[in-house]
Amino acid sequence: MERTPVASWETDFDVMDPQYVNDPFPIWDTLRETCPVAHTERRRGAWLLTTYEDVTAAAHDIDAFSSLQISVIRPEEAPNGAGAPILPYGLPPISSDPPLHTWTRRLLLPWFSHKRVESYEAMTRELCHRLIDGFIEDGRADAAEGYAQQIPVRVIARTLGVPDTLSDTFTGWVRDVLEFADDQERRAAGARGIFQYLTEEIARRREDPQDDLISSLVHGEHDGAPLDEGLILGICSLVMIAGIDTTWSAIGSTLWHLATHPEDTARLVAEPELMPIAIEEFLRAYAPVTMARLVTEDVEFQGCPMKKDDKVLMNFPAANRDPAVFERADEVIIDREKNRHVAFGSGIHRCAGSNLARMELTVAVETWLQRIPTFRVADPDAVTWAGGQVRGPRQVPVVFPGQFTRD
Ligand code: HEM
Repeated sequence: MERTPVASWETDFDVMDPQYVNDPFPIWDTLRETCPVAHTERRRGAWLLTTYEDVTAAAHDIDAFSSLQISVIRPEEAPNGAGAPILPYGLPPISSDPPLHTWTRRLLLPWFSHKRVESYEAMTRELCHRLIDGFIEDGRADAAEGYAQQIPVRVIARTLGVPDTLSDTFTGWVRDVLEFADDQERRAAGARGIFQYLTEEIARRREDPQDDLISSLVHGEHDGAPLDEGLILGICSLVMIAGIDTTWSAIGSTLWHLATHPEDTARLVAEPELMPIAIEEFLRAYAPVTMARLVTEDVEFQGCPMKKDDKVLMNFPAANRDPAVFERADEVIIDREKNRHVAFGSGIHRCAGSNLARMELTVAVETWLQRIPTFRVADPDAVTWAGGQVRGPRQVPVVFPGQFTRD
């Protein structure tokens, strides 16, 4: 797609600009100094928050900043009328405000409790081993496409109770919705794929309930009444969309970091007890998710005249690199002690799947380092990144000649 170059990051930013996608950190550092609330007229306009203070303040002010529109790229009517299908309740709880948000979030939380997540750990570890078995003898692999991308989709399939043989199809749909959101027809096709597939699965669970998330919603209730079909579809679609790209991007960024920072890799291999703190640091430094909000009434925010229905980008990744809150914010310090990062958001919409995401990220990195303790990027020019709503690497070719096989 032809892109108009960014004239000024302060007044004409573009989150899909290759410079922003590949290396946004210097851009955020400059904006925090010169214009912490940036603006663009592109894509019908948006504000971009870059400081920790502003991002968390907006996340907590749910009266002024609504979640009814959370896409970083606004959906447009596609040509020939084939726009993205609209669900009656959106994708609750993420795209809703209270009261709908409160009770739909409550329906989901038990499915991502520590106890539930623990029950997926053994299958996740086995899956990681199986993936590594497939390439370890080659001495090379694509750590993003061949490994990171393959893990969360299969774990989410298990949660939802759908077959993981369709993983590539699910991944394709979710990428169409999130990664290729600038291409409205592709985005609409991805959404249609998810909705049609899950509609059939929901119908199947009515007849034949299973021990899975879809069945619990199909046979669940609110205020004594069964849940509306459109609501169930919205929640299930959200789980698929929120659980795949996000976690795969976090695993991919972490492996890219380790492949390019051998001193951190060696230390994690020698001191595996550092893993939980290191995982938080990777989440902070490479937070993948930016969300959006809709301004509910004309308001002045940090001196900026925001109008009703303006879009505001909740730049959690930039907040995590704010030097006012994090010492040496642009460095990855794998034993960082104070780390109140907002990779999972802040306030009432804080990620409902964070236990699952942390487990997957930890198991994926632990298993990789156990089997492949030294590795490096084969060709830095072959590394590619995707951005927009979710930032992460899409290709990370690595080499690891003469590594261990499975014991
Ligand atoms: C590293 C991986 C992940 C990251 C960085 C991440 C990040 C986020 C963020 C920033 C939000 C807040 C949205 C907002 O403020 O508007 C969020 C919400 C949410 N996430 Fe995650 N997420 C991850 C993985 C997952 C997984 C595996 C699931 C499981 C399905 C999940 C499910 C959700 C749900 C349901 C919400 C909506 C919560 C609500 O609105 O109350 N996420 N996530």
